Amino acid sequence: MDERKYIDEAVSAFRALLEEQIKRQDRMAAAARSRGGDDKGSAEREEPLIIGIASGDGIGPVIMAEAVKVLKTLLKDELASGKIELREIDGLTIENRMAKGEAVPSEVLSQIKKCDVLLKGPTTTPKGGTLESANVTLRRELDLYANVRPVQVPEEDIDWMFFRENTEGEYVLGSRGIDIPGKLSMDFKVTTDAGTRRIARAAFDYAKAAGKTKVAIVTKANIMKKTDGSFSRICHEVAADYPGIEADDWYIDIMTANLVNPAVRRDFQVFLMPNLYGDILTDEAAEIQGGVGTAGSANTGDRYAMFEAIHGSAPRMVEEGLAEYANPASILKACEMMLRHIGFIEKADALSETIKACMEEKKAVVTGTSGGAKAADFGDYVVSKL
Ligand code: IPM
Ligand code: MG
Repeated sequence: MDERKYIDEAVSAFRALLEEQIKRQDRMAAAARSRGGDDKGSAEREEPLIIGIASGDGIGPVIMAEAVKVLKTLLKDELASGKIELREIDGLTIENRMAKGEAVPSEVLSQIKKCDVLLKGPTTTPKGGTLESANVTLRRELDLYANVRPVQVPEEDIDWMFFRENTEGEYVLGSRGIDIPGKLSMDFKVTTDAGTRRIARAAFDYAKAAGKTKVAIVTKANIMKKTDGSFSRICHEVAADYPGIEADDWYIDIMTANLVNPAVRRDFQVFLMPNLYGDILTDEAAEIQGGVGTAGSANTGDRYAMFEAIHGSAPRMVEEGLAEYANPASILKACEMMLRHIGFIEKADALSETIKACMEEKKAVVTGTSGGAKAADFGDYVVSKL
């Protein structure tokens, strides 16, 4: 194909992308207006409350087995009385997704939409090719715009809460960039007003409810002037509705440095960031807490919510025969966040305390290597102490 033809095709593809993204922003803005500017239409739930359980692949089934064990213990009465149902959702495996040629096969998505909340194991995304990440698809299809990731290091007095925008930025058109073979490649990053406003509101609402006094807005607005520039500006507009909470701008590079600086890191409280910076910074933060295997994550929207570990399916561990040594603490933290979300605060607190105690007592230390404890050892230990 000659160059002109590539350019013409790219220009018309770009027009279509722009029109589609403007429509998406307008839909979000309309939804925000119908909420009256307020978040979280917390509709009354009908019984039974259905928790979807999708194990994923790689180390997913190993760690999810421990999560199910723990949930069955904590929710014994509710499961027996039919108040809550745990519903297996098959079909999120890499084999099924590849066979169907869909990141989330449509019948799996419709099963997920029948659940109130979803607990999801990690899912493998092939590098290259055209299959999109199942995570990215689920976050978009269920409109899970807030990725909420807590990180705590009590001995250092660190209590961080990350609010990562979860549906746009570098991710929304991530598989729809442009290639001019042998010459250049271009990807797109999209920041919408309504998309930024709703994640900013989620972060400031949390800060207010939790009695926090500072929100760090993390961008690279000195370079990504349009997208990050708007992100920061809109976050400050939202901040104006929250007197008493200070909104500070930080650049992502110095923030990654700050997180490894023990002299300053404990001063941060709430972080608010576009998608890709949030992806990277939360892995760094998790490592400071004790490893990505120790961090859970909530993906929430106005209607659906999905809870997961912050890490991936660890194909390398599986190849090396180490899957059963994967750390289930991450998905157990996700269970804690899910219990809190559906209103079981005491059970969530109990689980949180137990995980903490089990990590401190060091009777079953999962290291991700064959020298450490197995996922099942840690799971059994948690169950025995609940
Ligand atoms: C995460 C993961 C995902 C992401 C991958 C699996 C698509 O790294 O949840 O942080 O990049 O968001
Ligand atoms: Mg990540």
